[in-house]
Amino acid sequence: MRRLIIAIDGPVGSGKSTVARRVAELLGYTYLDTGAMYRALAWKALARGVPLDDAAQLEALAADTRIDLQARPDGMHVRVDAADVTRAIRAPEVSEATSRISVYPGVRRRMVAEQQRVGRRGGVVMEGRDIGTVVFPQAGLKIYLDATVEVRAERRLRELESRGESTTLEELIEDVRDRDRRDKSREASPLVRAPDAVLVDNSAMDVEETARLIVLLARQITGPKARTARRRAEGRKKPARQSKPARRRPSQGKGRKLKPRGRRRK
Ligand code: DC
Repeated sequence: MRRLIIAIDGPVGSGKSTVARRVAELLGYTYLDTGAMYRALAWKALARGVPLDDAAQLEALAADTRIDLQARPDGMHVRVDAADVTRAIRAPEVSEATSRISVYPGVRRRMVAEQQRVGRRGGVVMEGRDIGTVVFPQAGLKIYLDATVEVRAERRLRELESRGESTTLEELIEDVRDRDRRDKSREASPLVRAPDAVLVDNSAMDVEETARLIVLLARQITGPKARTARRRAEGRKKPARQSKPARRRPSQGKGRKLKPRGRRRK
């Protein structure tokens, strides 16, 4: 069966990571969280004291950094060079720094090249902000995942609370709005919906429902009907089927005979 590149883009809190991971699991695909790559670099920039507005130094840092992502049953594990930064990259100051360093084209070029290397063979669910527009504009299925600002802020609140961090919903609504503004207005690869992306608003859907909807869309593309349609579009004929001798139905010929219906006796 054809193995797709599935691009899932969308703003913060739209549930991309959990949904993408579940889609990958259901289809047996590889999952790649591209935000984790930008986060890993931001973590290293903070650790090394690289100024977050120095594009040249940040690009050099990106060239000199090895980022490994490993999907495990308990989630995505992230390593920068040799250090395990899985938890550290989710800290609020790293989120803030990531949003600042990801505006530089030189940094993005490095990340995009690595993402294309990982996904080029297909069978991958990649989530981020620019997957359907820049990384894989030819992706077989593009999803733009969205939800209202309030719902996204509530999800962030639950996520932070589960990690023992305290904040308020009002603060997070502001934070989500800020990050949307930055992601959508930056010059390099702003967050936009690709014209051919399917818009999925999951404000009233849970992870499982959203993931299964995406799997359904993927199967429409890779399923037998889609294959026939593709062949037709490509002008190829379906290979001729070997004709089999017609099978006799059991009621034909020697088999069971229907009894003539007699009149019912009263
Ligand atoms: O999806 P996330 O919250 O982990 O993303 C962290 C930051 O990285 C966010 O500010 C947007 C940025 N990012 C990006 O610019 N391009 C991507 N493909 C993925 C994330």
